[in-house]
Amino acid sequence: MKKLLVTGGAGFIGSNFVRYWIENHPEDQVVNLDALTYAGNLENLEGVEESLGYRFVHGDICDGEMVKRLFREEGIDTVVHFAAESHVDRSITGPEAFIRTNVFGTFNLLEAARESWNGDDPECRFLHVSTDEVYGTLGPGDPAFTEQTPFAPNSPYSASKAASDHLVRSYFHTYGLPVLTTNCSNNYGPYQFPEKLIPLVFINALEGKPLPIYGDGMQIRDWLHVEDHCRGIDAVLQGGRLGETYNIGGVNEWANIDIVKTICQRLDQLRPGDQPKAELITYVKDRPGHDRRYAIDAGKMNRELGWKPSYTFETGIEQTLDWYLVNQAWWERVRDGAYRSYYEKHYGR
Ligand code: NAD
Ligand code: DAU
Repeated sequence: MKKLLVTGGAGFIGSNFVRYWIENHPEDQVVNLDALTYAGNLENLEGVEESLGYRFVHGDICDGEMVKRLFREEGIDTVVHFAAESHVDRSITGPEAFIRTNVFGTFNLLEAARESWNGDDPECRFLHVSTDEVYGTLGPGDPAFTEQTPFAPNSPYSASKAASDHLVRSYFHTYGLPVLTTNCSNNYGPYQFPEKLIPLVFINALEGKPLPIYGDGMQIRDWLHVEDHCRGIDAVLQGGRLGETYNIGGVNEWANIDIVKTICQRLDQLRPGDQPKAELITYVKDRPGHDRRYAIDAGKMNRELGWKPSYTFETGIEQTLDWYLVNQAWWERVRDGAYRSYYEKHYGR
C-alpha cells in the first residue's frame, strides 16, 4: 500500500490523475495538496471525497514547514508533483508566480522528501510532472524531442519548469533522492480550464463568440488525452529507472488552425441550424516568443515500459467535446469571477 502525496490535484491533470489512481489502486491512500489558485477547483473532484483513503489538504507548496509536517504526519512515501502555474500567456504578463510556485515550490517538496525519507525505504518515489516545452521549438523537418534533446525554454513558464527539472535531477545526483521526471506534450480532456485552446475555442464557438487564433495559426502541438498521460505516469512510477526522464506524447501533431476547424465541424454537426462556426475564426496578435512546433518521441516509454496512447485523436476529441457540452454548468461556474476579468484583459485588445 502506497501513501501518495499528489500536489495540484484540484487542477486539470491532477484531478484526472486522482480519479484514475483511486479507481486503479483502491488500496492506496491519497493526500491531495492544493492551494486552490484560480486553476484549482474542488468541483473537479466531486464524488472522490467519499473514497476511503482520500484526503484533501488546502495548502501552498511554497510553505516549507507545512509541507515537511505533512510528510511526517501522513508518512508519505510517493510524491506525484503536478502543482504549478501552467499557462504560458499568464507567464508572459506575470512571471513572478511561476518562479515562486514552479521553482521554489518544487524545491520545498524536494527538501521535505529528503528530510523525511533519509534513503531508508527503497519503495519511495518522487515523480515530477513536467512538459515538452522545456526543449524549446522545432522546425518543420526536425526530429521529435527525445530525452537527450538539450533544454532551450522560450517562455517564463517553460524556463521555470526547466529550472524545476534541473533541481529534481540534482537531488538524485547529489542526495540520491529516488526521483523520476516525465516531460509530456499538450493534454486535452475533461476538466481543462477554459483558458487553454481546446475548451476556450469550443465554449466560444458554442456561444457564437470570436475564436482567437494567434499569428498564422500554423503552430504545431502534439496532443495527448489526459487519461493516457495518467496511465503513462503510473507506468513510470511502477517501472521507471530512478534518475531518468521519460517523454510522454501522442505522436499526434496538429496545426492550431486545424484543431480549431475540427472543433467547428463537430459543433456544425451537432447544431446544423447555427451560423457555420468557422466564420467565427479571428486572427489576433501572436504570442510573444511563440514556439512554432512541438513533437514528442515517446519511444523510450514504449520500449522500456510498454506504454502507448490508448485513445485515437478522433475518439478522444469527440469524448472531450461531448463532455464540455454535457457539463455546461461546470464551465459556467469556472468562468465566473477571476477568469472573466483575465479574459477581458487578455483578449480585450
Ligand atoms: P492547472 O493549472 O490546471 O492546475 C494546477 C494546479 O496546481 C491547480 O489546482 C492549482 O490550484 C495548483 N497550484 C498552483 N500553485 C500552487 C501552489 N503554490 N501550491 C499548491 N497548489 C498549487 O495545470 P495542469 O494543466 O493540470 O498541469 C499540471 C502539471 O502538468 C503542471 O506541472 C504542468 O506544467 C504539467 N503539464 C501540463 C500539460 C498540459 O497540457 N496541461 C502538459 C505537460 C505537462
Ligand atoms: O506542451 C505542453 C504544454 O501545453 C503545457 O506544459 C502547458 O501547461 C499547457 O498550457 C500547454 O501549453 P500551450 O501554450 O501549448 O497551450 P495553450 O492551450 O495555451 O495553446 C495551444 C496553442 O494554441 C498554442 O500554440 C497557442 C495557441 N492559442 C492558444 C490560445 C489560448 C491560440 O492560437 N489562441 C488562443 O486563444
